[in-house]
Amino acid sequence: MTEPKKLFVKTYGCQMNVYDSQRMQDVLAPLGYQPVDSAEGADMVILNTCHIREKAAEKVFSDLGRVRKHKEAKEANGGDKMIVAVAGCVAQAEGAELMKREPMVDMVFGPQTYHRLPEMVARANRAVGRNRIVDTDFPAEEKFDHLPEHVSKQGYSAFLAIQEGCDKFCTFCVVPYTRGAEYSRPGADVIREAKQLVAHGTRELTLLGQNVNAYHGEAPNGGEWTLGRLLREMAEIDGLDRIRYTTSHPRDVDEDLISAHRDLKKLMPFLHLPVQAGGDRVLQAMNRKHTNADYRDIAARLKDACPDLALSSDFIVGFPGESDKDFEDTMEIVRDITFIQAFSFKYSPRPGTPASAMELQVPEKVKTERIMRLQALLAEQQLVFNQNSVGKEMDVLLERRGKYEGQLVGKSPYMQPVHVSGLPESALGQIVRLKITEALPNSLGGELVDATRNDQKSERNVA
Ligand code: 5AD
Ligand code: SF4
Repeated sequence: MTEPKKLFVKTYGCQMNVYDSQRMQDVLAPLGYQPVDSAEGADMVILNTCHIREKAAEKVFSDLGRVRKHKEAKEANGGDKMIVAVAGCVAQAEGAELMKREPMVDMVFGPQTYHRLPEMVARANRAVGRNRIVDTDFPAEEKFDHLPEHVSKQGYSAFLAIQEGCDKFCTFCVVPYTRGAEYSRPGADVIREAKQLVAHGTRELTLLGQNVNAYHGEAPNGGEWTLGRLLREMAEIDGLDRIRYTTSHPRDVDEDLISAHRDLKKLMPFLHLPVQAGGDRVLQAMNRKHTNADYRDIAARLKDACPDLALSSDFIVGFPGESDKDFEDTMEIVRDITFIQAFSFKYSPRPGTPASAMELQVPEKVKTERIMRLQALLAEQQLVFNQNSVGKEMDVLLERRGKYEGQLVGKSPYMQPVHVSGLPESALGQIVRLKITEALPNSLGGELVDATRNDQKSERNVA
């Protein structure tokens, strides 16, 4: 038997990239590539990159410097070759320049081409000469049809891509350009993949899409499934206990989805629903297609359907033209709605997006002042939510060992990491009922409530 080849994949950015990296490993496994956790000595290194903000893209170039050293060391004195590949959204957006700027990169390929990896690797590995490959096409046929049907084992909590691309064209965002137009996978394919993951031990699934609630996949018997309908089908899968989905657009929250939150116990009461900003002028300039009032209305309807539902959000501060008043509108919507977790960013002009050419770019100093105020408020809301969890009971999916001896870490319905001591490692993968005894800014501590009541599948949420 030939020696397995070492494959190191580094993932940047969003959960879709995490999923894609996993699928790249699945595609390359039949060629003898096995994942390792360092670039040192690897036969192939893939950087699966993110282009969403400037900082994320810059990180790739500094990491490439480190990879170059490993490549030189491996190939010194006639050693085996190391293929260096750049995948993901930086590859898609800057493919040709990347090749020019980084002569040691062998392959550059975009997110729609992963199914062609074996062919690319074979070409790059050819004994004669050096073959550098760029593949940033958006092929007409969809990559999902050509990826292996079989997915490999993932953790107790796994990702499943059901939708890719975005047609919303928010004026700050590169996604519609790097990931292309919206595409929804057929319902039957998604259900099959979910069942495979569950058969491998997955108990929690997060359905992924750049704009996941725009999902409109082909239904097995003709017609289309909305996300709400797909969630109902998913909830029927035995052994699958928790379902989440991300990332959603407020504009695509429909009655079907709201009623899924009312009806489905397995659907976790936590939703990432980015608002981005509070000021209507800014929302319009962002081309968000919703107003401040629309967002408030959607949040109210969701909470009406599922009273224990909590929201998280993304925010951008310092979008071109954002006035003090606009920013105060952002602060106000945060105070009124309350987010239990959030990501907030200073606006970062991205090449080729409409907002990067807008007048009235906000000075860096103002962006910094605003983000500090916003983040202080968001951190306070998160801490208050965590503190209010103390004394309550929650179902926690135990996922991994903790930092300390005898400690396990799991996830609450609200994505809070929860630490618990005194349980055997065999409890990993179980959903246990814990009483929350301690709250920190980013995590909770708990203790077992009553062993006999544990692992009852449909119990959920905060008591
Ligand atoms: N500048 C700052 N933040 C951005 N995001 C997307 N594009 C930009 C940009 N140009 C943020 C949005 C989005 C999240 C994934 O990244 O808040 O929801
Ligand atoms: Fe980007 Fe807007 Fe599409 Fe989200 S909805 S991926 S922010 S364009």
